[in-house]
Amino acid sequence: FESLTVGELAKKLGREPSEIIKKLFMLGVMATINQELDKDAIELICTDYGVEVEEEIRIDKTDLETYFESDEEQPAGELKERPPVVTIMGHVDHGKTTLLDSIRNTKVTAGEAGGITQHIGAYQVVENGKKITFLDTPGHAAFTTMRARGAKVTDLTILVVAADDGVMPQTVEAINHAKAAEVPIIVAVNKMDKEAANPDRVMQELTEHGLVPEAWGGDTIFAPISALKGDGIDNLLDMVLLVAEVAELKADAKRKAIGTVIEAQLDKGRGSVATLLVQDGTLNVGDPIVVGNTFGRVRAMVNDIGRRVKEAGPSTPVEITGLNDVPQAGDRFVVFEDEKTARAVGESRATTAIQEQRSEKTRVTLDNLFDQM
Ligand code: GTP
Ligand code: MG
Repeated sequence: FESLTVGELAKKLGREPSEIIKKLFMLGVMATINQELDKDAIELICTDYGVEVEEEIRIDKTDLETYFESDEEQPAGELKERPPVVTIMGHVDHGKTTLLDSIRNTKVTAGEAGGITQHIGAYQVVENGKKITFLDTPGHAAFTTMRARGAKVTDLTILVVAADDGVMPQTVEAINHAKAAEVPIIVAVNKMDKEAANPDRVMQELTEHGLVPEAWGGDTIFAPISALKGDGIDNLLDMVLLVAEVAELKADAKRKAIGTVIEAQLDKGRGSVATLLVQDGTLNVGDPIVVGNTFGRVRAMVNDIGRRVKEAGPSTPVEITGLNDVPQAGDRFVVFEDEKTARAVGESRATTAIQEQRSEKTRVTLDNLFDQM
């Protein structure tokens, strides 16, 4: 209904028309029993009576973060082991990119005909039959977003330290980030192939920052590698799995998916394209989804090796299309039961974001309007 008369509304609410007229008068509207009321006026009266307007979809939570904090929404499912999500950090030129490439080249392209057809900002490798997810974003960026939102994206971090250079300012910064986020650190002592490599010095210097090697009675794993030559990569990945096992990372593949945006952009042909990391649950093609301040339906999904997939389970990175707008890296995503709710939550979030942008002034809400009366 777009409009009702005062009399019709009174009947629907089971109230006397005079009561409605009085209420309208209090709100500053002079009305008669045959007066037509528009949608807004109807909603106002209904809200005052604590009655929901039928057409309206009720959304009690628009803060996506709350969907991460509690599982009350979801029936308790079965928790199963999930792959660890790993980022790589370290000082400039210590070999982060070379290590990522080395892992990807030795582990992903092998056995995957065609190899990587496109870059999606994250990838999975298989070591000893177990999957490991690597975020291709600079570790620092991942941590900053993570910290800003008080949320966890990474399960563990590999700290790359060049054996010929030792601990540098960004090495220390990385340690502080990881410590603040309570993310375990594995040290990759890189460039071991170099003449000037001095792993003892690296261990010595890191000990001063609280990272004591196991050999010296501490509990930090140090893995010597040459990212350039591909030496020690298998051992490093085994260590990642070891630490992941201790962390007992679990997820419920049967619940509706939640996760975080790794990166997103506008593509001329495909529209909004977003790389998502599914952190819990399973994401399916066709799922109604809210991503940051936008929403949509998952139209198509592509995995890290450029293949079309229909579903993506816990710790899986996928690229999706089908969103109305382009979200931001670090934004949360939540899958909803139906498109109507996703739309309502998404639109509400978009409106709020615009309003917040426009002014930080306190807005007059219906509630405090009534409080004043
Ligand atoms: P930024 O992204 O600039 O912070 O640097 P990065 O940490 O990604 O370092 P990158 O992988 O670009 O490596 C820097 C230089 O070190 C490049 O010239 C690499 O070829 C070289 N390098 C990386 N790993 C090794 C290694 O294991 N041995 C040797 N000899 N050189 C290496
Ligand atoms: Mg790099």
